[in-house]
Amino acid sequence: MQITFPDYIKNEKLKDWITEIAHLTRPENIHFCDGSQEEYDTLCDNLVKSGTFTRLNPEKRPNSYLALSDPGDVARVEDRTFICSRRKSNAGPTNNWVDPDEMKQTLNKLFDGCMQGRTMYVIPFSMGPLGSPISQIGIEISDSAYVVVNMRIMTRMGKEIYKYLDDDGAFVPCVHSVGVPLKPGQKDVHWPCNPDNKYIVHFPMERSIWSFGSGYGGNALLGKKCFALRIASVMARDEGWLAEHMLILGVESPDGEKTYVAAAFPSACGKTNFAMLIPPKGFDGWKVTTVGDDIAWIKLGPDGNLYAINPEAGFFGVAPGTSYDSNPNAMETIKENTIFTNVAMTPDGDVWWEDMTKEPPKELIDWQGNKWTPDSDKPASHPNARFTAPARQCPSIDEKWEDPSGVPISAFIFGGRRSETVPLVFQSINWNFGVYMASTMGSETTAAAAGAIGNVRRDPMAMLPFLGYHMADYFNHWLQFGRMIPNPSRVFFVNWFRKDKDGKFLWPGFGENMRVLKWIVERVRGKAYAIESPLGWMPRYEDMEWSGLESFTEEDFTELMTVDREKWKQEVISHDELFVGKLYDKLPKEFIHIRELLLSSLWRTPEKWGLAPEDIPT
Ligand code: GTP
Ligand code: SPV
Ligand code: MN
Repeated sequence: MQITFPDYIKNEKLKDWITEIAHLTRPENIHFCDGSQEEYDTLCDNLVKSGTFTRLNPEKRPNSYLALSDPGDVARVEDRTFICSRRKSNAGPTNNWVDPDEMKQTLNKLFDGCMQGRTMYVIPFSMGPLGSPISQIGIEISDSAYVVVNMRIMTRMGKEIYKYLDDDGAFVPCVHSVGVPLKPGQKDVHWPCNPDNKYIVHFPMERSIWSFGSGYGGNALLGKKCFALRIASVMARDEGWLAEHMLILGVESPDGEKTYVAAAFPSACGKTNFAMLIPPKGFDGWKVTTVGDDIAWIKLGPDGNLYAINPEAGFFGVAPGTSYDSNPNAMETIKENTIFTNVAMTPDGDVWWEDMTKEPPKELIDWQGNKWTPDSDKPASHPNARFTAPARQCPSIDEKWEDPSGVPISAFIFGGRRSETVPLVFQSINWNFGVYMASTMGSETTAAAAGAIGNVRRDPMAMLPFLGYHMADYFNHWLQFGRMIPNPSRVFFVNWFRKDKDGKFLWPGFGENMRVLKWIVERVRGKAYAIESPLGWMPRYEDMEWSGLESFTEEDFTELMTVDREKWKQEVISHDELFVGKLYDKLPKEFIHIRELLLSSLWRTPEKWGLAPEDIPT
């Protein structure tokens, strides 16, 4: 196959690699993506013709499309995700590992001729603002036009990328195939994917990515989890920075002070909602702005402060649950120029999903293309249905969201989905204690990953499925990183998901999370009071702003903040599942001592650390 390269591609290493992949996969055509609007529109038209896309009603949802996936290709496949470091001990016990030479043999067989009958797209992209010293360049080769149009929203994609890739500039090579070659004359299906063979493979040594068999989200949009988290976490370890599963937001107080925080919650646990929060009644003059909703790259600046960028350019957000009540900014962001995947369609060609409106429409086409009515026993949209929308369309987007030097981070927030045990909010007594608590974070699993839903699993820093190396080395990296910072950021923990005996959420959540956020930024500024609990610093009822939420009583707050000693002893014992069962040989020595200190404080009187007046030291 003779390849004619556009004249703007000059990097010889890149040309050699493209040639090699084309010879291996044997596509019918090669298309070099330029990132233009015309190219995007043409590809979307083609996707409509081929049946992958349905064009939504342009009056209701201009320039927007709906894709319905294969029912077997709806989420990340963690059990098919591999970290192929040279040695197994570098991937660690929380990752799937295969010897890199063996994996390459497997991949060579899988990719041999896998693009036959299809177009191979070459997609140049930047993770991070173009030209920022923190940004990184990737080239994804994919045989999916759906991937191209999603990548154009999620990353800075286009031919100008090549300008930053001079003769020998480095890039992360990403190869993706849906894994379904077409025989001559064979008709394609609307969502090609390989039911038997899915492989999401990372080679941290050579910093390359190979993905086979899935067209969905993080499995296929390789700039996101594969590059910006799994490969970037390895770069970050080697170079002394952090690549995290975190949103970034700014808080402006009525007196004009701006504080940026980064928050790590596991998949489908409220990052998008929190990043776009609108302060509720009682918060006049407060404003929250959005820098990112999923990934943060964080470096130490020359002034000793931490600076973060959002490497992405769009949101790939969970649709179900998103409404004008729960997240008006997201609803405004997805008004136009949006790709919806696995949501339901209304008779007038708009989209709908569970809880988008209080009353469901009388009739819908569900995410599998079948007729749906409110009596149906299945949800109309898939629980992991998503929207892909440009970040610049978000009304709350921060003025500095594309600032090449990033925004200064004053606090880290960690939060899981826990129906029991974990209180609404507390502040770690210091960095190391915070690293321990974040490392032992538990969360109930969600539909964002294929598999069982609702089990508590340890999800350190919300990074369990996204780390490209050994988890215990990562804990050490965090401790080491803290030692480099002259004034380490404060570390907080939140839990929006605690439930009462009847299984009802104790905390109203969403916009009301502002009450917690305000206490956090005021703690950072040295302006809010806190008392000591076995877990760290906690607000009393009177330390938080309650105006506008009169229905929430002091007793409700006490229930939500209770640290049940017996449950917490069990919680600390359960840390051993990860620490003793899996990470013992490399666990930071500090953790042994922090665990002891935590246990010893759990023995302190009173029996229950509630917020009753007699508990409060005077
Ligand atoms: P990924 O994109 O998968 O990384 O996840 P994310 O953390 O951005 O998820 P998202 O914000 O889209 O979370 C969606 C889920 O969290 C939905 O089920 C929401 O109803 C729920 N959620 C978000 N915020 C709150 C909250 O404050 N309280 C409660 N109870 N649920 C919330
Ligand atoms: C997540 O699962 O954390 C996501 C969605 O952000 S995906 O990109 O599909 O991984
Ligand atoms: Mn995510």
